[in-house]
Amino acid sequence: MLDWDDPLGIQRNTKDSGMGPVVAGNSMETSSSPLMKNAVQPEAMHLESPAQQEPIEPDCLATAMDIDHQGNVGLEDIEMGAARIRVDDKKIINCHADLNQLVPFKYDWAWQKYLDACANHWMPQEINMTADIELWRSRDGLTDDERMVIMRNLGFFSTADSLVANNLVLAVYRHITNPECRQYLLRQAFEEALHTHAYQYVIESLGMDEGEIFNMYREVPAVARKAEWALPFTKRLSDPNFHTGTSENDQKLLRELIAFYVVFEGIFFYVGFVQILSMGRRNKMTGTAEQFQYILRDESMHMNFGIDVINQIKLENPHLWTEEFKTEMSQMIREAVEIETQYARDTMQRGVLGLNAPMFEEYIHFIANRRCSQIGLSPLFPGATNPFPWMSEILDLKKEKNFFETRVTEYQTGGALNWD
Ligand SMILES: [Fe+2]
Ligand SMILES: [Fe+2]
Repeated sequence: MLDWDDPLGIQRNTKDSGMGPVVAGNSMETSSSPLMKNAVQPEAMHLESPAQQEPIEPDCLATAMDIDHQGNVGLEDIEMGAARIRVDDKKIINCHADLNQLVPFKYDWAWQKYLDACANHWMPQEINMTADIELWRSRDGLTDDERMVIMRNLGFFSTADSLVANNLVLAVYRHITNPECRQYLLRQAFEEALHTHAYQYVIESLGMDEGEIFNMYREVPAVARKAEWALPFTKRLSDPNFHTGTSENDQKLLRELIAFYVVFEGIFFYVGFVQILSMGRRNKMTGTAEQFQYILRDESMHMNFGIDVINQIKLENPHLWTEEFKTEMSQMIREAVEIETQYARDTMQRGVLGLNAPMFEEYIHFIANRRCSQIGLSPLFPGATNPFPWMSEILDLKKEKNFFETRVTEYQTGGALNWD
């Protein structure tokens, strides 16, 4: 069993994990996948409509005349022979300085997170899935309820991380006008690809019905509801006609950042994380749980980066953070808490692994309070406590630092290039 208090790198056995994914026979399916009446319409979920595939290129060709109303891609307003860039020229949004010059740094926190994230590098196929495959194939190793928890979470996460990646690349990146923040966004985008890879690797290793799992976000209401909630935000921002620069639009960007970083990655991921990590703590599906543990560490940093960006935007643009906007954001988080609580109920209709839905409701209230205080909102559920203190230990910043130090050493040792 994994020792959850130790840095992750110690647990991995890379010699044993060179195996590719093992495809088992058809797994025991415990949840049906009929088209539900509340299922999200496929066309509503598709991010790559022709209108959305075209926005970047015209901006690249924009002239200096366009810059006030164009998204900043870094090339619009370079004036050859102009003065060198100064720190004071840099702004997190609506900056018209040269975005191709990384230094001088203004936001050291963003660069540091980029460095930490790179030190945190891992690959899904490094994790040994043998025990999981054996357990998943066995007739009585897992209850039907446990199987449903695993499948529903793979259903949610396998598409959720693609949604986050698409949001980053197609919506957020264009509007964050700072090179060190963009450097982190590029790293985050790669990590989201790794996460989707990890879920696909688990699904394939366990021999699950891929069509069923990857379509849950359209066909199973508990899963669909969360993706459905997030999509309008990303669609608005990825509209090629959307540009920051007015208070109204800057608030739209801020709203979208809170929706994705605070709600989607900061609340909607946490019932699933607790459920799968609880399984690992009970020595079940330890490989899958280890994948989730790596992902949780990445996600924790994504959320913290997003919160830093949100707070920096507030700092530089205090007129956006009105009482009305704060009330709206509190209401948005309250709504998200209800959706995630329903997800806990739907995935755990009975108690599983010593956990039950009311415990999750308390936990969601607890983390919602934390998210609120991190962005300067009043707690929504005063007095809420944490029924899963071990999750806080995993997320503890000091341990995260230790974790990174471990990983740095491992990759320095094992990362030599082989030219053969
Ligand atoms: Fe992710
Ligand atoms: Fe993420």
